[in-house]
Amino acid sequence: MNKMLKIAVIGGGSSYTPELVEGLIRYHDTFPVGELCLVDIAEGEEKLRVIGELARRMVEKSGLPIKVVATLDRREAIRGADFVSTQIRVGGLDARSRDEKIPLAHGLIGQETTGAGGFAKALRTIPVILDICKEMEELAPEAFLINFTNPAGIVTEAVSKYSSIRSVGLCNLPIGTKMQIAELYGRAPEELFIEMAGINHLNWTTRVVLDGKDCTADFLGRLSDSGGFTMKNIPDLAWDADFIRSLGALPCAYHRYYYMKSEMLAELLESYKEAGATRADDVKAVEAELFELYRQPDLAHKPAQLEQRGGAYYSEAAVQLMKSIYNDAGDIQIVNVRNGGIIACLPDDAAIETNCVIKADGPHPIALASPLPPQIRGLLQVVKAYEELTVEAAVRGSREAALQALTIHPLVGDERAARTVLAEILEQNKAYLPAFAAE
Ligand code: G6P
Repeated sequence: MNKMLKIAVIGGGSSYTPELVEGLIRYHDTFPVGELCLVDIAEGEEKLRVIGELARRMVEKSGLPIKVVATLDRREAIRGADFVSTQIRVGGLDARSRDEKIPLAHGLIGQETTGAGGFAKALRTIPVILDICKEMEELAPEAFLINFTNPAGIVTEAVSKYSSIRSVGLCNLPIGTKMQIAELYGRAPEELFIEMAGINHLNWTTRVVLDGKDCTADFLGRLSDSGGFTMKNIPDLAWDADFIRSLGALPCAYHRYYYMKSEMLAELLESYKEAGATRADDVKAVEAELFELYRQPDLAHKPAQLEQRGGAYYSEAAVQLMKSIYNDAGDIQIVNVRNGGIIACLPDDAAIETNCVIKADGPHPIALASPLPPQIRGLLQVVKAYEELTVEAAVRGSREAALQALTIHPLVGDERAARTVLAEILEQNKAYLPAFAAE
């Protein structure tokens, strides 16, 4: 247990990487990383160089014996790694911008990870992640894949169905929600247990337990005057108190796209029509500002400006997970794993996002206190079926699965619209979808 660990970060040139570095430094006493290998693709070389240098300055300031390597050689990065973390964006922010705009042009919600936008991202991403898994099978078969890459739930499902690599899908939303609930009660997050059930970006907080007492009803009652439980990237539309009470759970921030579809669409369309801009364009501006800062040779910490991004607590989530696996901690974290019967209304091999006990061999999902009620089950099953079809579409290059996936997605829900949007997605992403070209 006292060997120095090697972590490979694929997509290491991401503006989020300083978050991760900060966490690796903070927890070095219980998670002794000896080598941090940041890897990126040739187009990202300059960003990788900047991030690599900043990471080196951060490590140097900490005085810890962590070697930082920045490389374009993915195989060398993966070789012998104990953990491989993926935070890639296939096609970059330009592709995200297209994902957001294609649906909007047809009067549909255009979003990074849900609806038709998230679908396009899944098609581009799954083949690349499965390639990474193949390299891991060869070069680091015992390593854990910690996947942050969106759409994280769909990617986790693809990996668990099509690779032998041990993998965990990770998102900052659960930890962020827990922090916000703790804050509402004036407590530390460790003093609180929350039960979350569902899938990534569509999970419900079904129970809140404080000092051993179930205070879910009290919590739901407080929501009307507690702000919106949202994230930087999602408009903070308030939940209706009666709706929340009858739902019997706290929806996640992304549920606004489903439960308040018209209002959310109007919000998105307004900024799109006014400035021709979507979130991807805002993020480009934030990134430019961040990289300007990252380049400053005296900067040796994560700048506060990073908080403008949606990925708050990314570092907490990633480092806590790797640390608990390494230490066989047996603590509870909310991550994306294979269902295996925990959510009875979903297939066993579906990826779900729920509470897990984290052991040396990975996360073990915990039974739910009670089965999910119909108002949750109904939406969950539909979106999971969409995800299942999307994985099939991406892996097999199947237009049929793709059309069915989009048609049943609640943010599309129309065969004609699905057909039109799918044609545009396939056309505009041609360069990233060889499986479709071959069909
Ligand atoms: C949240 C989500 C992430 C998502 C991010 C987008 O943190 O959980 O999955 O990628 O927001 O943030 P951005 O700043 O890129 O819009």
